Formats: sequence, C-alpha cells, structure tokens
Amino acid sequence: MTTTTNDFRPGLEGVVAAETRLSHADGQRGELVIAGFPLEELAGRATFEEAVYLLWHDHLPTKDEVTGFAADLCALRPLPEATVHLLQEVAAKSVPPMDALLMGAATLNLDSPATAEQQALTILARLPTIVATYWRLCHGQEPIAADPELSHAANYLYMLTGETPHAAQTRALDTYLNTVIDHGLNASTFTARVIIATESDLVSAVVGALGALKGPLHGGAPGPALDMVFEIGSADRAEAYLRAKLDRGERLMGFGHRVYKVRDPRADVLSVAAEKLFQEAGDSSLYDLAKAVEQKSIDLLAVYKPGRNLQTNVEFFTALVLHGLGLDTDLFTPTFAISRAAGWIAHCFEQKATGRLIRPSSRYIGEMDREWQPVEIRD
Ligand code: ACO
Repeated sequence: MTTTTNDFRPGLEGVVAAETRLSHADGQRGELVIAGFPLEELAGRATFEEAVYLLWHDHLPTKDEVTGFAADLCALRPLPEATVHLLQEVAAKSVPPMDALLMGAATLNLDSPATAEQQALTILARLPTIVATYWRLCHGQEPIAADPELSHAANYLYMLTGETPHAAQTRALDTYLNTVIDHGLNASTFTARVIIATESDLVSAVVGALGALKGPLHGGAPGPALDMVFEIGSADRAEAYLRAKLDRGERLMGFGHRVYKVRDPRADVLSVAAEKLFQEAGDSSLYDLAKAVEQKSIDLLAVYKPGRNLQTNVEFFTALVLHGLGLDTDLFTPTFAISRAAGWIAHCFEQKATGRLIRPSSRYIGEMDREWQPVEIRD
C-alpha cells in the first residue's frame, strides 16, 4: 500500500501500526479482550501469574505450569547488590518512586541472562522488589526480603508493609494487576515495540516504556484523581468544585479516553473490586463519596464538553482500589507499571517475531532554500 505525507494523523489516532493477539480494546462497544477472554471473565478470577502466563504463552497454564512459572518468578525476586546501592543513593535524593523504578529497572541489564525468556522473567520478578525496596529506603526502613510462600501480588504488599495481606486484599490486587496488564497499542506499549524493533534488548524496551507511562496523560492520572476526591471531601461540595475546575479549563483526571467513547470496561471491573475491598474493611464512606463525585463529573462533562461522551476511565477506580490496599498515591503509577510490564514484554516478543523496524514518516512544514550567513553578519 502506498502512503503519502497527506495521511498525517495527529497523535496517530486511528492508525493501525501493529497486529496483536494480546488484547483488543473496542472503543465503540466499550469492551476489552485479553488474549481471547473478555476482561470481566478473567480479571476477578485469575491470579496475576496466570494472566501473565496467558499473555506470554497464549493459553491458560495447567496447575503444573503455573506452579513452575510462579516458582521461577519467585527465585528471581531478590535484587543484585548494585541495584540496591543505586536505590540507596536515589533515596537520599527523594526522587519520585516512578523515577527510581526507571533508574532501578535500567540496572537489570547488569545480569546477562542466557535467553530473552529469562530476561523477561527477571524484569517481571524484580520490578516489585525495586519499588518496595525504594519505598522503604525513602521512609528510613530496612527493605524486606521477599517471602517465597507468597504470590506475586501478596508478596508485593508484604515487601512494602511487612504485613502478610489477607485473601481479600490479595484478590483485589490480582484483579487490579490483571485489569491493566495490557491494552492494545497504548503509548508505553508502542514505545516498547519501537525500541525492541531496533533489535535493542528487553530491559531497554521496558525502561523506555516506563518513561512513557509516567506522564499524567497516560499512567500518571490516578494520584490526581484521588486527590480530587479528597479535596472535594463531601458529596454536597462536588458540583461547585468540579464546575470551578472546568471553568478554569482544567481536565478532570480519571475521565475521558482516547479509545473508549462509550465506557471504559476496566473502570467497571475496578469499581466492583473497590466496592468489595471497602466493604470487607467495614467502611465504604470513601467509596460512596467517589461514586458521587464520579456521577457529578460525568453529568458536568456532558454539559461542558457536549458530544464528547467523556466517561470514567480506569485511573479513577485504580486510585480507589490502590488506596484501599493502603498504597500511597506516589505508588500508584509504579504499581501500574509492575503489571503493564508483562504486557510490554509480550508485545516485544510479538514485535521481534515480525522482524520489522518501526519507522513512520513525517510531513515537513519548515522553511526551504535558506542561505547560509556567517555569524558576523546575522541579525
Ligand atoms: N476533563 C475535561 N475535559 C476533557 C477531559 C477531561 N478529563 N478529557 C477530554 N476533555 C476535553 C478536551 O479538553 C477536549 O475539549 P475541546 O474539544 O473543547 O478542546 C475534548 O474533551 C476532547 O479531548 P481530546 O484531548 O481530544 O481527547 P483525547 O482522546 O486526546 O484525550 C485523554 C484522552 C488524554 C485521556 C483525556 O481524556 C484526558 O486528558 N483525561 C484526563 C487525564 C486522564 O484521566 N488520563 C488517564 C487516561 S487512562 C490511561 O492512560 C491508562
């Protein structure tokens, strides 16, 4: 097919730049399919290990397969000394955890695993350890060694807090991790595919993807979304607060999506997970407030941005689930990354199999035929 520079689409909206069997976000129907499974079928049932195995192998694991896979991940959790030293240095400067994760992840190339599969396992196993280690160092606490008896999700909470989570907490985190594990050709996944397509390595692809994820228009929204709910404080203050924000031309974090124009199915799955988590903890007041803020936001967005159909996106309920698990807002985006890394890696394997460099075109809109002037005579 011949393309011309007249085909320019700002933001590449609607441009198909890859084929994938990993996930499909149907924006018109408000549906997300993960390797053949409707999100609602998979997210609340699978462990994160099962969901990762599904993406990496294109089938649900047998009992033996998932046991072996979990054991492989478990064995790779401890960090090399150099990574811990780097995190100690970085903690002294109190950089945001997402930046520390990015720097820590870059050290994962210190080991030279025999195969790309081993490198993939190493990255996935160690990202939670980097986040938890850094978090504790930042708060003057000793890092906690991984517990081999705990699953990926449970161990992450354990390494952060030192407390073994109860079953409802582990289930909520597994549901969250499964919900955000992959999502078509989003910005960070595209970044990972571009990097791996140059025949670079998996660590470089993941580090690049982390950089894309940290921006507020991608993975950085849940913190501000929760801050907004806290600032509103009570349902009767929501309308005035939200109107003032919209009057100032500000965006409401946690609403709107480039692909989903009807509903973001991930928001529904996480809303249910959040409701269960807060009920289990015996206090649903924050959940009730968030639902009231959500409804008022949707109503006002319809008034301020008619025809745009701006709905709740995944970040809004991400904030509630992760807050309900006791995570600080600074940990929200790194926790998103811990899951999405599995998707990035699966996309990298897919992209490598195509053997095709990603190299789009640009349309030149600059000056032509300029003439060189020596510096002495320039105005
Ligand atoms: N609040 C207020 N107005 C909004 C919002 C919002 N959350 N989202 C979009 N709009 C407005 C835009 O200002 C624009 O208005 P205009 O036509 O008057 O200029 C119109 O709706 C369309 O906006 P676009 O920027 O074209 O929408 P796009 O598809 O590019 O943006 C995005 C999607 C970036 C997610 C946007 O909705 C947004 O900024 N949301 C808030 C941030 C957020 O929640 N990000 C997390 C997204 S989920 C994820 O990445 C995992």
